Formats: sequence, C-alpha cells, structure tokens
Amino acid sequence: MPASDTPTLCPIPPGLVAPGAETADFVPLVALDDLAPGEMQRVSFGDLDVLVASTDAGIVVTEDRCPHMSAPLSLGTLDGCVVACVLHRGAFDLETGETRTFPTTGGLDADGISHAPWTPADTTPKPEPSASKATAHSLTRTRRLRFYPTRVEGGILEARVPV
Ligand code: FES
Repeated sequence: MPASDTPTLCPIPPGLVAPGAETADFVPLVALDDLAPGEMQRVSFGDLDVLVASTDAGIVVTEDRCPHMSAPLSLGTLDGCVVACVLHRGAFDLETGETRTFPTTGGLDADGISHAPWTPADTTPKPEPSASKATAHSLTRTRRLRFYPTRVEGGILEARVPV
C-alpha cells in the first residue's frame, strides 16, 4: 500500500476486544508498504502470535489462532473478509468475529449451541472417532474472534497488544 494512501482500519465489533488489549501500549506490527490488499501476516511476540489481515473491510489485527483448535489462521486463505482455516474447514469473518462455516468436527458455538460433525462433499467420510474423542469434539467450543485496537503512525501499523 503506498504510504500516501490512508488505510481503512476495520472497527472492532462490540465486546470483541482481546483480553488485556484495552490497556496495553501500542506496538509496531508492519509497515503498510509491506502489506498488500488481501494479504495476511503473522507477527509474534514471545508466545503470542498476532494475525494482521488486509481485508475488504479494512485492516484487522486478531490472534493468529483459530477460534476452534488454535491452528494458525495466517496459513489459511483470505477471501474478502473471511479467513478459512487449514484444519477442519472452519471459516471465520474477520469483520464481525463470527463463524461463517462451522468446523467439520462439530461442537459448541460461542453461544453454547451444539453443531453436528459434517463431511465435506469432496472427501470420503472418516471412520467414527472413539467415544472419548467424539465427546471432546462435541464439547469443544468455537469462540468469536477477539481483536486488537489499531492505529497508523508514520506509515507503520500499530496495535494495542499485551506483550
Ligand atoms: S483448528 Fe481451525 S477449524 Fe479447527
């Protein structure tokens, strides 16, 4: 993105600020010149991995952990505002924080509603998991994404990340 362009920073949906972010200091993440439209980048601070995504709705900063089983979202694919996880076919809206496609394993959503496992049309069904594994899947909760407040200073994207 040319430094002269003013980037759109996607507003955080109500109630979805990441824990500790509201009082954290701003830290630099990436130069805007190095973030192309539609691109996702992982930025790590110790064991905290942050996802920077340039979506159709603007730039978003969230944890680089799938809200299902923590796979790196930065390895997935971004289509508009929706990131598809490389595991279990989950897809998540980076503008709203909501799940767009529930993971194949099934389980609980953020509101505690149960979703059944499913098999994608382009794959063959897997053998039934053990009872304990099936129970673990059914009780695994897919949460809403949480976001870090952002700003731009001197062409650098910064976010309040509790490092
Ligand atoms: S870890 Fe991402 S969909 Fe399961």
